[in-house]
Amino acid sequence: LIDRVDALDLLRQEIYLGPEPGATERQHRRGKLTARERIERLCDPGSFTELEMLRRHRSTGFGLENRRPHTDGVITGWGTVDGRKVFLYAHDFRIFGGSLGEAHAEKIHKVMDLAESVGAPLIGLNDGAGARIQEGVTALAGYGGIFRRNVRASGVIPQISVMLGPCAGGASYSPALTDFVFMVRGISYMFLTGPDVIQEVTGEEITQEGLGGADVHSAVSGLATFVHDDEDSCFEGIRDLLSLLPQNNREEAQSHLPADPVDRRCDALTEIVPGEPTKPYDARAVITEIVDDGEFLELHADWARNLVCALARMGGRTVGIVANQPAVLAGVLDIEASEKAARFVRTCDAFNIPLITLVDVPGFLPGVEQERGGIIRHGAKLLYAYCEATVPRIQVILRKAYGGAYIVMDSRSIGCDLSFAWPTNEIAVMGAEGAANVIHRRRIAEAADPGALRASLVAEYKDRLMHPYYSAERGLIDDVIDPRDTRTVICRGLEVLRSKRESLPVRKHGNQPL
Ligand code: COA
Repeated sequence: LIDRVDALDLLRQEIYLGPEPGATERQHRRGKLTARERIERLCDPGSFTELEMLRRHRSTGFGLENRRPHTDGVITGWGTVDGRKVFLYAHDFRIFGGSLGEAHAEKIHKVMDLAESVGAPLIGLNDGAGARIQEGVTALAGYGGIFRRNVRASGVIPQISVMLGPCAGGASYSPALTDFVFMVRGISYMFLTGPDVIQEVTGEEITQEGLGGADVHSAVSGLATFVHDDEDSCFEGIRDLLSLLPQNNREEAQSHLPADPVDRRCDALTEIVPGEPTKPYDARAVITEIVDDGEFLELHADWARNLVCALARMGGRTVGIVANQPAVLAGVLDIEASEKAARFVRTCDAFNIPLITLVDVPGFLPGVEQERGGIIRHGAKLLYAYCEATVPRIQVILRKAYGGAYIVMDSRSIGCDLSFAWPTNEIAVMGAEGAANVIHRRRIAEAADPGALRASLVAEYKDRLMHPYYSAERGLIDDVIDPRDTRTVICRGLEVLRSKRESLPVRKHGNQPL
């Protein structure tokens, strides 16, 4: 018996080392870790349990019958990350370039099914050349099975795609269906058709990096949620993210005993946010001030920078923060900011993460490009996402909140649970200058001194409407607060809303604008 056990150990060792001499070195020369090295660095030591290490394909043709490496180019299994159970798959680029054939796909399907039924996050470490060309349509069907499972598990377990190599063609649709996409500069590429095909069809010349590198997807397309300079910092980022998420949609994210007192006064806020309504400031400085220990994880930090989406803890529990960013484009809402926030609101709602909305918004971005680009359709996504969210929702209006953008940013009328405003607050249909010009255009034009009349009408408009007490009198905000108490007020609100229960009408699904 011991002989057989020794033979099994030997076989496992061979599989562990890789397909052929030199393959690991080639992977390292590409600037990449191997699949096993990645799993070892991401998971807690010794926690990874591999499934189907002995799996091999049964395909024939193109010499495949003579080349049947164990694992079939993907390592699957489960492990723990900071003590929490996760399921993983990792393409092994050393085997058929990590390309996906029938056996390879079935291994991924199995681990996805397990993750969903057990209720634990799924992490895909992607480094593969797409559908295995020699296996034809069988390989394509394998992708279909992954996409279907991605959608089935969507909103049930967190799904994290980590791009650590090429990801071409239909293969890119699995990451696009998941909740979070990590990319690493210099080694990750995602595109549907590569540079060669593009040159043939459209004549455009472009490099892989310029077409679908990490910076393109983090700053331009908005596909990448997080971008890192190397694999180790990427794994660190995954650990941070996991610590803020629940295991599944029936649980809450793990809470921590906060060292940071919930009633800490935030004196710096009165310095950070200028009293003048149009003076820029960095919304991230406000977030740093109010969250536990000043720590937060920003999503899509380089895309749609006029709006900040971040996960953080308040009173020890995870919250999702949506904040207009007055430092970029004055914090207006445009197409990309609406899409970014809509996706984030839905992600938080799916995983029981309360939403804090920090409002300082001059309106939607005016412009032909925005209107023709469908700002109404895209802005509606954000409106829909908020209206549908049943998690605790707290709105804090820091300075201005004008027009439709005020309504969209989780106003009382669309269902926030608690709403507070600073005394600097201006909620109105539009800014005072614009308002005076619209409602008194004729009087101003006919006046002996139009400048003086306009100034007095602007003053009257500001005096009557543009202060928080107008909204407070009408119950549209719950209180006007001292900015320095913002953290305390939010933490108390979160505590009382912990047991919030709200359900939507029974239906197949809503028909959200897409
Ligand atoms: N199916 C099967 N094998 C594939 C493959 C595929 N789609 N793509 C690459 N391979 C194999 C190569 O034959 C090579 O095998 P070898 O190690 O036995 O020689 C190995 O993977 C590595 O490929 P290579 O081209 O040497 O690596 P690279 O880093 O220079 O380029 C890619 C990687 C992914 C950019 C390139 O291989 C490529 O463009 N592949 C085709 C991608 C594609 O169109 N896939 C279908 C999309 S659905």
